[in-house]
Amino acid sequence: MVSEVRDVGPGPFGSGQQAAPIAVGEQAAMPSGEEAVDRGEALRVEGVSKSFGLVQALVGVSLSVHHGEVVALVGDNGAGKSTLIKVISGVIAPDEGALYVNGERVVVRSTNDAAACGIRTIYQDLALADNLDVVENLFLGRELFRGVGPLRRVDFGAMRQRTAAVLSELGIGTIPDSRALVAQLSGGQRQTVAVARATLDNCPILLFDEPTASLGLKEAHNVIELVRRLRAQGTAILIITHNMRQVFEVADRIVVLHLGKVGAVFRTSSTTHEAVVKAIMGKAS
Ligand SMILES: Nc1ncnc2c1ncn2[C@@H]1O[C@H](COP(=O)(O)OP(=O)(O)OP(=O)(O)O)[C@@H](O)[C@H]1O
Ligand SMILES: [Mg+2]
Repeated sequence: MVSEVRDVGPGPFGSGQQAAPIAVGEQAAMPSGEEAVDRGEALRVEGVSKSFGLVQALVGVSLSVHHGEVVALVGDNGAGKSTLIKVISGVIAPDEGALYVNGERVVVRSTNDAAACGIRTIYQDLALADNLDVVENLFLGRELFRGVGPLRRVDFGAMRQRTAAVLSELGIGTIPDSRALVAQLSGGQRQTVAVARATLDNCPILLFDEPTASLGLKEAHNVIELVRRLRAQGTAILIITHNMRQVFEVADRIVVLHLGKVGAVFRTSSTTHEAVVKAIMGKAS
């Protein structure tokens, strides 16, 4: 049985290191240096449960992500990570539980509801429109226009320029032509389009479901750099990855899901790979 923990958020400025995982009733110490500014809670998930028939994908899951914080959500295949992200982003209705954005209870029944709450998601199963080109995918549902009234037109020029800027900001040089249909792109190229799409409008809360899974080394590095930049701008980021190196590179805290439950919560600066891996496997540390 894994240790029982609760999610405590970054808390106030603190001193010293905590033994990992962060145990019930303890306050988590802020890590030192650049991360030591608590900008308040952006997202809180409380007591979320979801079953698919006999499969209990999530059982009373609670966690929080603060503004300017990266929380890694880790766990074995089937632990419930994607299901949780889908609940937060309005794709799946939970059986129980509540979501809070900036401390306010919100009801999210669709991805539009989530977007209205400032939540944007990059899904593991990418959800791009194959028959549209890169620019159209980036701006799908939020096209740029110029002119007014009957003269109002989609501004393809502005959308192309913005696409080029976003792709270059992401350091993406592997998409030769932003007019290419997404169906013609490689898996990694599609993933970079999905990342670019999610970061286009500076959403305050970003959920990433394995954003680097099929990326090459350089692109994966660029995505991690982007996550760092977004955090510095105050974005709250919940990121699923199986890549432990990335977890330790980028996350402030690590939430481990095991068989649909929060098995442990760690402060990255005061834990080890070994402790996290043990929690992922459901072993007490
Ligand atoms: N739509 C669905 N219908 C039925 N069962 C589902 C559905 N979605 C997820 N599940 C089940 O819920 C459990 C959790 O799945 P989920 O996709 O959340 O896992 P995960 O942690 O994201 O795993 P992975 O690391 O492999 O992506 C699994 O047992 C899965 O089979
Ligand atoms: Mg998944």
